[in-house]
Amino acid sequence: MFLVNMIYASRTNPGFNPQDIEGILRSSLRNNERAGVTGILAFNSDYFLQCLEGSRDAVNDAYHRILHDRRHHDPVILTYHEVTHRQFPQWSMGYMGEFCQHRDILMKYAGSTHFQPYEMSGESASAMLLELASRIPCKTQLSEELPPVSPRHPHGAIPVIPPRGVHATVPF
Ligand SMILES: Cc1cc2nc3c(=O)[nH]c(=O)nc-3n(C[C@H](O)[C@H](O)[C@H](O)COP(=O)(O)O)c2cc1C
Repeated sequence: MFLVNMIYASRTNPGFNPQDIEGILRSSLRNNERAGVTGILAFNSDYFLQCLEGSRDAVNDAYHRILHDRRHHDPVILTYHEVTHRQFPQWSMGYMGEFCQHRDILMKYAGSTHFQPYEMSGESASAMLLELASRIPCKTQLSEELPPVSPRHPHGAIPVIPPRGVHATVPF
C-alpha cells in the first residue's frame, strides 16, 4: 500500500456559511476514520487549504468526493507525492479555524501576511501546516472545539484541532 500526501487549496463558494464547516467536519471524521485518511484542514473566510494523507486509493476517493462539493470551487492541487510516513497521523481531520492571527507564520511561508494559498508552493504550504499544527493546542471534545469562525471577525476566532478518532457526540 502506497502512502501519499496531497495538499490542495480551494475557494469558499459565495454564500458559504461558516457553520457549513460543521458538516464538513462531521463527514470528514466519519469517512476518514473509516478509510484511514488523516490530515488537516485550514480555513479562512475565503479559502480552504487541506492536507489529505493515506493510501493512494483512499486519498483519491476522498479528493474526488471533495472535488464535487458545492461548498467550494477552483480546487488546485499544490502538491501530491508518495511519502514514507504521515505528517498528521493523529487526526482523521484536524481542523484549524481562522489562523490569520499567526501572522509571523504566514510571513515566514508566504509572500505577505495575507493568506493566499494559490500563491504558495506545495512545499511552503506543507511546512506552514505543520508549524501551525504544532503551535495550535489540541483539544479533546469536538463539540467544544468548533471555533466561532466568522468571515466578519477573522481575528476573533480560536483555531483548534480535534484529535484523530474523536467523534462528535453532542450536536454542534
Ligand atoms: C473543503 C472541504 C474539505 C472536505 N474534506 C473532507 C474530508 O477530508 N473527508 C470527507 O470524507 N469529506 C470531506 N469533505 C466533504 C465531502 O466533500 C463530501 O461532502 C462528503 O465526503 C460526503 O460524504 P457523506 O455523504 O458521508 O457526508 C470536504 C468538503 C469540503 C468543502
